[in-house]
Amino acid sequence: MELRNLIYEEREGIGIITINRPDKLNALNRELLRELRELLEEIRRDEKIQVVILTGSGQKAFAAGADISEIAELGLNTGLAFSKEAQSVTNAIEELGKPVIGGINGLALGGGFELALACHLRIFSESAKVGLPEVGLGAIPGMGGTQRLPRVIGKSRALWYILTGEMIDAETARQMGLANRVVPSDKLMDSCMELAQTILKKGPLAVGLALQAVNSALEIGQNQGLVLEGALMTLACASEDKNEGIKAFLEKRKPVFKGR
Ligand code: COA
Repeated sequence: MELRNLIYEEREGIGIITINRPDKLNALNRELLRELRELLEEIRRDEKIQVVILTGSGQKAFAAGADISEIAELGLNTGLAFSKEAQSVTNAIEELGKPVIGGINGLALGGGFELALACHLRIFSESAKVGLPEVGLGAIPGMGGTQRLPRVIGKSRALWYILTGEMIDAETARQMGLANRVVPSDKLMDSCMELAQTILKKGPLAVGLALQAVNSALEIGQNQGLVLEGALMTLACASEDKNEGIKAFLEKRKPVFKGR
């Protein structure tokens, strides 16, 4: 597919998406969001790709938020449609069925932070900062930020950052569990690739099932969650990959998974 605002490359089972509007600090216009949603759909169906990295071009910004020139046009009749369209992108990340690693290379503000929040794992460069400045513009986060941030750092902290618009630096993000790792800027892509390669060595079917179970953990009650876990575990047990994983362990060799 033709991409005007994103760069996409594949490296041995890893799909790397780079948000690429450097002259606008990678701000997310509607065309970019549509491209991202369509690309994610292609990746979802692409059996070769098992892990995805999402990052931004340049050192300064992962993404400086929704494109303010487009937000300016929104009114009563268009705000909800915009939010639903934008939420469908963050939902597509979270529900991809394959791990998405956010490589947060700089400022991730507003919608940029909300994209990062939808990723399953996040590695921050030391200079990265994230924040939700929307209320300062008279708007509110509309790409899932009011829902995902409390789930990651707790309601009270989330309200602090949403109501003050204060930015969170990389080290604070790490302490709150928002960043899984913080690394020097020049090591960010290597660290993301290393993490992706670690996950690539696991059973792909099991990785997808584990993602599905954990994605549901904060959405449904624990008893229902345990039922779901049991069902997904049963599926894993019925897979060739599980037999291969156990056999390889007993034979003291590396498993060769087939994703079935
Ligand atoms: N939407 C559209 N354009 C944006 C943008 C956004 N969210 N964020 C930055 N840009 C554009 C600027 O308009 C500028 O374009 P120009 O050179 O054509 O004038 C370019 O990106 C560079 O930004 P600039 O503001 O000059 O850089 P800076 O280093 O002085 O400031 C920020 C960086 C991130 C602090 C500042 O750009 C900013 O506050 N952006 C908006 C962040 C925000 O509120 N996001 C949430 C939106 S809902």
